[in-house]
Amino acid sequence: MKSACASKINEHMIFTIMMLEQMHFPQSLRRVPEYAGNHHEGLHGRGYPRRLSAEQLSIPARIMAIADVFEALTAPDRPYKRPHTVSEAIRILYALKKDRHIDGGLFDLFLTSGAYLRYAKQFLKAEQLDEVNITPYLSDVSARLEHPS
Ligand SMILES: [Fe+2]
Repeated sequence: MKSACASKINEHMIFTIMMLEQMHFPQSLRRVPEYAGNHHEGLHGRGYPRRLSAEQLSIPARIMAIADVFEALTAPDRPYKRPHTVSEAIRILYALKKDRHIDGGLFDLFLTSGAYLRYAKQFLKAEQLDEVNITPYLSDVSARLEHPS
């Protein structure tokens, strides 16, 4: 039963890629099928549906993966889960960073740029906007840039 469920989940990526590759995009958007189609791939090479390697994942596809997880975790309209708070979503993303599922440098940038907070303030409910200390989640280099001594 579990594998049937997993293959159903994987199907949404295959259909995404098939549908987007049939659409005509203007030149500036021609890589949309790649960006959207790779949002469940991971730097560790265990993603789906194609188990791409880190070298095969473009920066926009890596950004899309982070945005997709953050949006999914915090979304209030999913029947299978309650919406996570911002701090919960960041903590889960950090676990994905440690697992090399998502790009650690881009995750750091997601935090230090304040993009997560701008999104949260615009789209989430007030009760989801809890305090987040981003420092423990940053890689050493980013932490030094964020907090120069
Ligand atoms: Fe997805």
